Amino acid sequence: MATSRRSFLRTAAAGAVVPVLGPRGLDSLERRLEAYSGLSPASAAREEDFWSEIRRVFPVSSDYINLENGYASPQPAPTYEAFGRHEAAVNRGVSFYMRRKRAADYLSVKTQLAALAGCPADEIVITRNTTESMATVIHGVDLSPGDEAVMCDQDYGSMLEQFRQQSRRRGLKCVEIGIPLHPKSDEEMVETYARAITPRTKLLLLSHMVNVTGQILPVRKIADMAHARGVGVIVDAAHSFAHIAFTVPGLDGDYLGASLHKWLCTPLGAGLLHIRKDKIRTVWPLFGETSVPDDDIRKLERIGTHPVWTILAIADAIRFHTMIGAGRKEARLRFLQQYWTDRVRGIPKVYLNTPAGDRACGIANVGITGMTPAALADALFDKYRIYTVAIDMVPVKGTRVTPHLYTTTADLDALVKAIGELARAA
Ligand SMILES: Cc1ncc(COP(=O)(O)O)c(C=O)c1O
Repeated sequence: MATSRRSFLRTAAAGAVVPVLGPRGLDSLERRLEAYSGLSPASAAREEDFWSEIRRVFPVSSDYINLENGYASPQPAPTYEAFGRHEAAVNRGVSFYMRRKRAADYLSVKTQLAALAGCPADEIVITRNTTESMATVIHGVDLSPGDEAVMCDQDYGSMLEQFRQQSRRRGLKCVEIGIPLHPKSDEEMVETYARAITPRTKLLLLSHMVNVTGQILPVRKIADMAHARGVGVIVDAAHSFAHIAFTVPGLDGDYLGASLHKWLCTPLGAGLLHIRKDKIRTVWPLFGETSVPDDDIRKLERIGTHPVWTILAIADAIRFHTMIGAGRKEARLRFLQQYWTDRVRGIPKVYLNTPAGDRACGIANVGITGMTPAALADALFDKYRIYTVAIDMVPVKGTRVTPHLYTTTADLDALVKAIGELARAA
């Protein structure tokens, strides 16, 4: 890394403006947002005054435009401050808290999370992240040599790795298919997966929202097709949960993993595992647990001592999310994505790896013919101070752009201008 870039990164890290709200911060924000209580998702998407209230509680960098919010989200001030208070409260009497109070708090958070997911609390476990949720299933179900699992070339790398390990360990056959970047219809996607299923197929992995392109898959339709053939469905909802509005049972997967530190904006290290009630008995706990019945989800909750304040802060993040409104959040994120993609689509040499319309929401991926993804992401950062992430894999070559609720249209105008200039020079 060049020295100038290294020192820029140092300044950039120091340059985030961290808002401070104080203990009643969420209450006062809630009161300010009451003025917008009648605002529909469609109108809210363009209501800049509403979003500038939201922007004020995020730690926005003054040194660069962060359009790489896909890795994880910063916590908004109300959640971040509550997180600190939870840590301090637990620290005042760790053993007492863990022995006497933790269980009730855990159940309360779990109940709120289940309500948000639209499912019963006895079908979910709070985990550290999607990787752990999915691993619990991928390594917890019985698999025999010759069994097959279907996945696609755009699924998240560590899920593919976990299946590959099951291939080495248990003789599972991994069937990796290609999926189109710009599908013409849901039926085309259903057919693409259906063609890969054989009588030996046990499991189908589906990314609800593809992380490298932002494409949203018609999970419900694919799951229905898979179930009709006796295949179990495991849904990776790392990017869709609390980003687009849906209920977990509405997707009809058997198992689902999500990360809460992405779009629910919790502290790092919070995730969700959902297992449909009748499937709980199919998953062996990775940490031995025989004292809980096989069909009781709590058999998966024995994970040892961990930072419980992260779990407590999930409730604060849910309150913040609910205050904005799931529909308004989805509408805003889609509006932001379409704001910039609509403006670059016609520029010569610029191509989009993300489908138009409702098949995507906040995330999109753009490339410039004649520039490698790394060269594009570096140029955006070095010349324009716009941070994105290069994706260079088959079949996705471009840079991923992920705005957030605190992103302004001025930020996106800067991106559009930069892409135009880089395309002309390429
Ligand atoms: C589709 C998808 N699945 C899983 C993950 C892993 O998430 P985590 O690191 O929170 O486990 C990611 C992370 O970006 C992702 O995009």
